Amino acid sequence: MAAQNLQSVPAERTAGTSETADAAGQANFDRVMAEDSRIEPKDWMPAAYRKTLLRQISQHAHSEIIGMQPEANWISRAPSLKRKAILMAKVQDEAGHGLYLYSAAETLGQTRDKMMDDLIAGKARYSSIFNYPALTWADMGAIGWLVDGAAICNQVPLCRASYGPYGRAMVRICKEESFHQRQGFEILLELSNGTPEQKQMAQDAVNRWYAPALMMFGPPDDDSPNSKQSMAWNIKRFSNDELRSRFVGMMVEQVRVLGLTLPDDQVRYNEDTKKWEHGPLDWHEFQEVLAGRGPCNAQRLERRREAHDDGAWVREAAAAYAAKQSMKTKEYAA
Ligand code: 3HC
Repeated sequence: MAAQNLQSVPAERTAGTSETADAAGQANFDRVMAEDSRIEPKDWMPAAYRKTLLRQISQHAHSEIIGMQPEANWISRAPSLKRKAILMAKVQDEAGHGLYLYSAAETLGQTRDKMMDDLIAGKARYSSIFNYPALTWADMGAIGWLVDGAAICNQVPLCRASYGPYGRAMVRICKEESFHQRQGFEILLELSNGTPEQKQMAQDAVNRWYAPALMMFGPPDDDSPNSKQSMAWNIKRFSNDELRSRFVGMMVEQVRVLGLTLPDDQVRYNEDTKKWEHGPLDWHEFQEVLAGRGPCNAQRLERRREAHDDGAWVREAAAAYAAKQSMKTKEYAA
């Protein structure tokens, strides 16, 4: 059912004080949450809901944009023209994901310029995973299989997020992420079936990306300050640990097909809880990465700043063109 917006709330309820309008908006918001329906940009929403969405969507957008770097670095070194074309398409997709998400965040009243300023000033978060280096060609396989695989696992439930623009953006993003994961899997499969050195390179990449991919889902549930409220608002549908466990279960099956192993001898299915379990993760390392002290944090932000500066002429040209068009429209109207 489509969410009712404030304009459709009866006139006598909106014509009164702002408290009356807020009360009507809150009632509508509560009904939408109870019906598991959607809030749209013009609907009234609690300030904290807007803030949480802006936080999550902008962080997500930044992750897509920063996430282009580890793979873009391998485009010129891809082993064949076919691989180069596929990798270019994938990196381009990530840019598109960032743009859908910045657009979704803009509907909450934040400008893209402000979001970008926060990113390049180092004030905004982006996913921890993109602060690790991509050392060999096999890392393109491990990133596709594990990182995009974790992203899909986390993001498919977000297609049902209660905020309309976010949920709709996620549908398209998830379709593209599926292609990304398959291309990563296929790179690893080919290497695994290649020479012993190639197989070892694939295993080494899986070994390095496995734990950081598991940490993409966020801190353990007991240390996740935002999960409870985000789940009550139907933004997140599953907890961080729940999704991490599902992901491990998916990888256990797929790694067998690859002929590789997960670097975790504690992976097991717990018959009592009906959940997959994994070995301990280094949450100190995770906090270090979040604090900006990961292996590539400084490099990623520096590269983003350079790209932003290099693009200044494009923004200036677009603004000049828009001003000219607006002038012409006014002249015609006069
Ligand atoms: N990297 C960086 N920060 C992280 C993080 C991670 N992997 N996991 C959690 N955090 C941060 C949170 O943002 C939060 O910080 P804040 O309160 O200062 O904003 C803090 O750690 C506490 O974590 P919570 O679990 O309480 O936070 P959330 O409820 O927001 O859950 C999340 C974190 C699961 C990442 C959630 O925000 C989410 O699902 N986001 C949408 C998906 C997303 O952003 N994915 C990023 C990867 S994008 C990608 O993978 C691109 C693809 O092409 C590969």
